[in-house]
Formats: sequence, C-alpha cells, structure tokens
Amino acid sequence: MSLKGKCVVLGVTGGIAAYKACALTSRLRKWGVETHVIMTRNATQFVTPLTFETLSNHPVVTDTFARPETWEVEHIALAKAADLFVIAPATANIIAKLACGIADDMLSTTALATKAPLLIAPAMNTGMWTAPATQQNVETLKARGVHFIGPEGGFLACGDEGAGRMSEPEAIADGIRELLEPVQDLAGLRVMVTAGATRERLDPVRFLSNDSSGKMGFALAEAARDRGAQVLLVKGCTTAPEPTGVETVNVTSTRDLYDAVTGRAGEMDVIIQAAAPADYRPETVAEQKIKKAGGEALVLRLVENPDVAAAVGRMKRPGQTLVGFAAETERLGEHAAEKLAKKRLDLIVANDVTRPGAGFNVDTNIVTLLTAEGEEALPMMTKREVAERILDRVLTLRAGQ
Ligand code: PMT
Repeated sequence: MSLKGKCVVLGVTGGIAAYKACALTSRLRKWGVETHVIMTRNATQFVTPLTFETLSNHPVVTDTFARPETWEVEHIALAKAADLFVIAPATANIIAKLACGIADDMLSTTALATKAPLLIAPAMNTGMWTAPATQQNVETLKARGVHFIGPEGGFLACGDEGAGRMSEPEAIADGIRELLEPVQDLAGLRVMVTAGATRERLDPVRFLSNDSSGKMGFALAEAARDRGAQVLLVKGCTTAPEPTGVETVNVTSTRDLYDAVTGRAGEMDVIIQAAAPADYRPETVAEQKIKKAGGEALVLRLVENPDVAAAVGRMKRPGQTLVGFAAETERLGEHAAEKLAKKRLDLIVANDVTRPGAGFNVDTNIVTLLTAEGEEALPMMTKREVAERILDRVLTLRAGQ
C-alpha cells in the first residue's frame, strides 16, 4: 500500500469515543502511515497518552505543556509535516474553535497553522450535535473545504439515542485513505461542466436572470478534477468561489453559452450541464435605460433562446456521456423524464427547487438520478456529495456503453 511514509496528525479530543481512536491509530500504523497524536487535556482523562505512544510509536503531544521549551516549535513542525490532519473524536467545542479560528491549546493551534486537508469525525450528545450553533459551525467548516465523516445515529454513551456517535475506526480509516490517495477513476477523460446563471440584457442597466450561484456546477468540476479528469468549466454569472485547476470559459448570455458549449462539445467524453440558462431573452435590447411611462404597464416581448443541451444531444457522438439537470417546481419525475428523452441525455439529475435544502444557492441538494433504466432518489447531501454520486453514475453508464 502506497500510504507508507504519509504523515497523519491525529487530534483526539475529550469524549468516550477517544478509545476508538486507538483502533484507528493501530490501523494507520499497519498501513505504514506515520501517525502523530495530539491530545487535548480532556482527552487524557479518557485514554492515557502512553496508549497512543505505544500504538503510534511516536511521542504524544498533549495540552499539559509538560515541555514548554519545545511546544512552539512542535506545533508548527507537526502542522507542516501533516499530509492530512484528522480530529477523531471531535467535540462540539473543537468544532466551534476551528470555525472561529480560536487557537488556545496545542490541538487548535496546530490545526489553525496547518495547510493540510482536515478530516473531522464528530462525536457528541445528539442535542449538542443538532444545536443550531454546532450545525452552523459545521456548515462554515464545510464551506471552507473541511471534510466530515459521521456522526452516525444510534445509542449514545450518555444514554440518549440519535445522531452523535463517532463513525467506526474502519470507516474513518477508509476516509483517510481516500483523502491521502484520491481515486483517479476519471483519469484520461475530458469532462465539460456548465455552471451558473445566464443573463439576458434588457437595457444598459438591467437584465433577466435567475438565482443560480454556480455551487452545483463548481462541485462537479472540483470532484471531476480531483478524480483525475481534464475539466473544462463553462461558467455563466456566479457568486460562489470558483474552482482552481480547471480550464474556465466565461459566458454571459444563453447564446454565449450555446457557442462555448457547442464549440467544444466534440472534444469531450462527458458533458454535464448544471447551468441555469435563461430560456427567453428580450426581443430587443434598449440602447438607453428604459424610463417609467407615467403608470403605464411596460410590455416586454421575449423570444426563445436556443436549447444548449438539446443541441449537444443532436451532436452526440458515440462514446460520449451526456448529463443534464432538471430544475422543477412541480411534477418532477414527469418533466425530468421528458427532458431526458428530448435532449438525448444519458442521465438527468432532477431537483425540486422548491424544497428547503435543494436547488439554487444552497450548499446542499436533494436529487433523483434518472436514466432510461430507472431512477434513484438520493437524500439531502452536500453538493459535493451529489457531484460524486453523479460521477459514479457516469462511470457505470460508460462501462455499459
Ligand atoms: O448554481 P446553484 O445555485 O448551485 O443551483 C443549482 C441549480 C439549481 C442551478 C442546478 O442544480 C440545476 O438544476 N441546473 C439546471 C437548471 C435549469 O436550467 O434547468 P431546466 O430544467 O430549465 O433545464 C434542463 C437542462 O437543459 C439543464 O441541464 C439546462 O442546463 C439545460 N438548458 C436549459 C435551457 C436552455 N436554454 N438550454 C439548456 O441547455
């Protein structure tokens, strides 16, 4: 296993699940991963540092500051050495500190200083996990690219039942392996992703558009990039932070999007259209700002824009996989199935954009994946998780092509 020599810094905070971090440490050592454990003062009440020292074969850093002359150097050295920073179990307290950038002990100080990816396995009482403050902190960290695993539901040590149990060490270890050794199952594929809203000018100061932030398309572009694809991102008007490491083409109107997408479609193996193009544009664009007409209604005449996905469907060549989205407010399945057939897509991702936590300008989505073979309804997930599921499905479709 090529994880040999990789460095994981494992933060252990104070909770009964700290004992499970022992099994995790042991598994990482078996894989040849250099594991350096940092324990909070509370964590040392549950498991002794000696246990982790024995399992990791490295000294354990604690917040007792037993060696004050070295700690400053130590926390920076560990922050730099880490290929991955893991906190398991992570209490509500450490999650809150990370969200706010508080650095008041060895673990939070090192976590703040590191540039390594961060994986958090929360463990706490259900009430603490579902508290709005904790959920907001988790969202803040996720938006910064922090990875989470769990918590799971079940019987908790405090006697309650519900979400809050730390994921099992095997699951956390798998998550660590995925982050240290990302799957490159899209290597060699050229993937085009469209994202964001288009704008249709009305006059020099106004336009018609929609609420698309670009988050769904960006999550797809990032996931495809991380899985080894060569990504072309065609983006309209967006508000979300843009992905790096992908080729980007900016467009404004649906006709711009049409030109950009159809111009490059022939080069692509996979085309995923998550953009929200305006279906109509004003028939004429006023040269000057339109003035109010003394209480008279303003009548706008709109003409239909070209359908980009349908055009790509007509150009489809053998070996290409086409994915579209359907943003619906009613009769989700029926409308999505119609679009799947009409636009000659292999897969359509249907989202009911009226549901809380789905659709425009949120970090999560609730989608149904529809193909000619059937449909799969997914629960609410982050847009990144939805993106991974879409890419998994693309690979399955391509395997059967
Ligand atoms: O960007 P976010 O804030 O993250 O929001 C995500 C999203 C809601 C925009 C995304 O999940 C989504 O649903 N995108 C498709 C929006 C849309 O235009 O849906 P539609 O049902 O109107 O179009 C169906 C498909 O045809 C889409 O793939 C669309 O890109 C494409 N289309 C639509 C109109 C048009 N003129 N040309 C097209 O190619």
